[in-house]
Amino acid sequence: MIEKKIKKILISPRKISSKVKELAGRINRDYRGKDLVLIVILKGALFFASDLLKFLEIPLIVDFISISSYGDSTETSGEVKLTKDLEENISGKNCLIVEDIIDTGLTLSYLIRILKLRKPKSLKVCTFLNKKERRIRDSKLDYEGFIVPNEFLVGYGLDYKEDYRHYPYVFTLKRSFYDSCLAAL
Ligand code: IMP
Ligand code: MG
Repeated sequence: MIEKKIKKILISPRKISSKVKELAGRINRDYRGKDLVLIVILKGALFFASDLLKFLEIPLIVDFISISSYGDSTETSGEVKLTKDLEENISGKNCLIVEDIIDTGLTLSYLIRILKLRKPKSLKVCTFLNKKERRIRDSKLDYEGFIVPNEFLVGYGLDYKEDYRHYPYVFTLKRSFYDSCLAAL
């Protein structure tokens, strides 16, 4: 039973849903009359992106990219690798990166660097969560859902060792459910 593992629910399904609608409204206004390629970063952003998409009313293509910086642990390694590339040629196109959470910012800055080399017409960023305190590398965040504290979060796309992504809210786990290194946080 998940209830036994939850320490605290930080963002409820209701709050998520109203934020998603608000962000989609802004994106619809900003991209009116334009085409868009939505670049969803797997796997975490899948959940946020699929909710967001339901409210987007502009012509768009959805594509996926996968980069890894975390491996199985909870600390960023600083090393980022592209594990699945886009299928779309984004040259000359308006692109919007959709991410689950910006933490150190290393993953995002790497991604922006490689995507800019492909000469998109525009490249913006939409992140569900922003863990501001931990930033090492800053990039402009054009759309952001919630600013969150420096805690290890799970749910709504965020995983701990690949589990917990599928819960429709954002929460922290009780200490005993994390490995000892994280329980010290
Ligand atoms: P960054 O490169 O440090 O900004 O890390 C970004 C990636 O780390 C995100 O796409 C997440 O997959 C993962 N991440 C960062 N913070 C958390 C967290 O609190 N819970 C789960 N995953 C996280
Ligand atoms: Mg992850």
